[in-house]
Amino acid sequence: MKTILWATLSANGNYAQSSPENPPKKEALDDFAKHAEAAGNFIVGRRTFEGMAASGGGGGGPFADLDIVVVSKSVDALPGATIARSPQEALNYLQRKGHQTAIVAAGADLHNAFLSQGLVNELIFNVAPVLEGKGLHLTIDANDYKFKDVRLLDTNLLGGGVVQLHYAVNR
Ligand SMILES: NC(=O)c1ccc[n+]([C@@H]2O[C@H](COP(=O)([O-])OP(=O)(O)OC[C@H]3O[C@@H](n4cnc5c(N)ncnc54)[C@H](OP(=O)(O)O)[C@@H]3O)[C@@H](O)[C@H]2O)c1
Repeated sequence: MKTILWATLSANGNYAQSSPENPPKKEALDDFAKHAEAAGNFIVGRRTFEGMAASGGGGGGPFADLDIVVVSKSVDALPGATIARSPQEALNYLQRKGHQTAIVAAGADLHNAFLSQGLVNELIFNVAPVLEGKGLHLTIDANDYKFKDVRLLDTNLLGGGVVQLHYAVNR
């Protein structure tokens, strides 16, 4: 099974955050829905899922037909989602269900767990036309300088000034 990490970045390279004053770009959200629907699933961290649920996009609404896996050690059940205790457990579940591709959808903590554990095959970064101050970062190791080559597969202009970068990760 192929694992794709999907994320929006700010133009200055942060892992983009959103707020009522700085909502996610529609073009980036539409792109997320396209990839999640094509894969039939997505994996999220517990905090991101709770944020999605609060805005009507959790385990129901537009994603009601998808296999949603929430990674959490602290909760046992959430409506419309399957709980996994670790990134690997989330992948094992989707593999058992016969999925060919897993979409890892957010947030920073969970993305960094997948990246540091070497569980990602491809990256989709949508670079939004916004600059942020102090913020979140995606990293393969939070404590040490390391690097890993990635191979550019494709670029796309999604509209609204959002640029998509699609990479393969050498594992
Ligand atoms: N740029 C984007 O594409 C994008 C998209 C959506 C959200 N966001 C931003 O992301 C931020 C939210 O992300 P976040 O980092 O705060 O939270 P998160 O990654 O969504 O959720 C964190 C929680 O997930 C669980 N978790 C994470 N790693 C785990 C592991 N290795 N094993 C078991 N459980 C694990 C833990 O849940 P428990 O505490 O329950 O154990 C942890 O508290 C917000 O600022 C939001 O704006 C950005």
